[in-house]
Amino acid sequence: MKIKNICCIGAGYVGGPTMAVIAQKCPNINITVVDINEKRIKQWNDPDVEKIPIYEPGLSAIVKEARGRNLFFSTDVDKAIDEADMIFISVNTPTKTYGIGKGMAADLKYIELCARQIARVAKNDKIVIEKSTLPVRTAAALKNILDNTGNGVKYQILSNPEFLAEGTAVQDLLNPDRVLIGGDIETEKGREAVNALVDIYASWIPKENILTTNVWSSELSKLTANAFLAQRVSSINAMSQLCEVTGADVDEVARAVGKDSRIGPKFLQSSVGFGGSCFQKDILNLVYIARSFNLQEVADYWEQVIIMNDHQKRRFAANMVQTMYNTVAGKKIAILGWAFKKDTNDTRESAAIYVADYLLNEQAEIVVYDPKVTEEQIYSDLDYLGSRSGDANRQAVTVVNDSIEACEEAHAVALLTEWDEFKELDWQKIYDQMLKPAFLFDGRRLLEPKAKKKIGFEFYAIGN
Ligand code: UDX
Ligand code: ADP
Repeated sequence: MKIKNICCIGAGYVGGPTMAVIAQKCPNINITVVDINEKRIKQWNDPDVEKIPIYEPGLSAIVKEARGRNLFFSTDVDKAIDEADMIFISVNTPTKTYGIGKGMAADLKYIELCARQIARVAKNDKIVIEKSTLPVRTAAALKNILDNTGNGVKYQILSNPEFLAEGTAVQDLLNPDRVLIGGDIETEKGREAVNALVDIYASWIPKENILTTNVWSSELSKLTANAFLAQRVSSINAMSQLCEVTGADVDEVARAVGKDSRIGPKFLQSSVGFGGSCFQKDILNLVYIARSFNLQEVADYWEQVIIMNDHQKRRFAANMVQTMYNTVAGKKIAILGWAFKKDTNDTRESAAIYVADYLLNEQAEIVVYDPKVTEEQIYSDLDYLGSRSGDANRQAVTVVNDSIEACEEAHAVALLTEWDEFKELDWQKIYDQMLKPAFLFDGRRLLEPKAKKKIGFEFYAIGN
C-alpha cells in the first residue's frame, strides 16, 4: 500500500512538528495539516516563517523547506479528509473539567468529533492513526464510531504515540529512540496498514527502531513511558527536600546515583516541579483507568507522583514567603521564565503559573519576563485558574520584555524556567538595582550559588 496523501487533524505542538518532519523526509507524499482554529492556521501560513505559532529550535527551517511543496496548512478539514489515504488525529485531549472523571479522565470529545467528521466525509478506505495520547482502548471506540456511522468505508485504526519532547521536538523526530506503531497485527489488512506507516518512518529511521505491537500495548506504552519519566522527576524532587534539611546537595546526589548504569543520568534534574501538557494529564488518566478497574493500590501508587509534584511547586512558593520575613504583600517579585521548560513557548501546566498564583494570593506584585511567552498567554494562564478576576490579575502582574527591567527595584527574583540566557545575565547589575536584602530563588538549579552569594544575594536553590 503506497500512501500519497496524508491529512493531519490538529496543527498543535504534536501535529505541526511531526508533519513538518514527515513532509521533509517524504517529499513524494502530500501532507495537509488542518485545524478549526483559523488564527493558528493563518500563523502556520505566515510568509515570515519565524512567525509560525510554535517555537521549536530548527522547526521554522523545515517548514520553510516543505511548505507549499508537499506541506500545506488549511482550515478545510472536510477536503483534506476526503483526499487522504491516511489520517492522523493530533487534537488535544485535556483532562476533563466536568462530569464523570472530572479532574482525572481524558476528555475525548475532540477525538470523537474528529471520528464523526471522518465518518461523514470519507468515501474511500482510510487508515486512521491516533497520534494524541489516549486512554487504553480508545482505538476500539474510534473504530466503533467509524464503522457504525460511516458510508460503508473500511477503516484500519493504528496507534502511533508521539514521544517527542518540546524544545527538542525536531531532534526527537529526526532521531527517535524508537517509533511505536500499534495495529490489528492479527489480520492481513491490519498488517498492511501497519506496514504502510512503517514504510513512511523507514524513509529516515532504521527499521530496528520501529516497533510494532497490538493496539492496546501501544496505547498503554505511551502512558507508561510518561508515568516513568514523571516518576523520576518526582523522585529526585522528593530527595531535594531531604537534601535541604540534611545538608546534602541534590545535584551531587543525582550525579552519584545517575552513574549507576542501571539508573542512568537522564531525568534526574531537580526542579520547581514538572509541567507540560503530558505528564500530569497522562498520570491522572492512568490513575483513573486503574481505579475504574478497581486497582486501588496501582492508582494510589501513581497518584503519589502528582501529589509530590504539587507539593514541590507549593513548597517552593511557601519557602519564598517564609524567607522574606513571612510576608510578600506589596513586595515586587520578578519571575524569570514562564514556559514549562526552556526552548518552548508552551506554558501548559507550567510550575510558574502555580508559583505566581500562590504569591498573588499573598498579595505580591509580580513582574514576569520570558523570552518566548506572550503577555496575552501569561494573563490567560492566570485567568484560567480562576483564583481572582482578570482585572485583578492585570493589576497585580506586569509583563516586560527584558530581564533586567523585570528585576529593577524588586525584593526578590524567582528563576522558574532554565532558559540559557539567564545564566549569562549581568547579575551584578541586577543586584545593584534590587532592594536589599536582594533575594534570589533558583527553582532550576541553573545558577552557580557561590558566585551569586559573593555578589551579595540571599541565595536559595532547590535541593541545596
Ligand atoms: C514529555 C515526554 O518527555 C515526551 O516523551 C512525551 O512525548 C511528552 O511528554 P515534554 O513534556 O515536552 O515531554 O518535556 P520533558 O522534557 O519531558 O519535560 C517535562 C517537564 O519535566 C518539564 O517541566 C521539565 O522541566 C521537567 N523536568 C524534566 C524536570 O524537572 N527534571 C528533569 O530531569 C526532566
Ligand atoms: P498537542 O500538544 O496535543 O498538539 P494542541 O492543543 O497544541 O495539542 O493542538 C491541538 C490542536 O487540535 C488545536 O490547535 C485545536 O484547535 C485542534 N483541534 C481540536 N479539535 C479539532 C477538530 N475537531 N478539528 C480540527 N482541529 C481540531
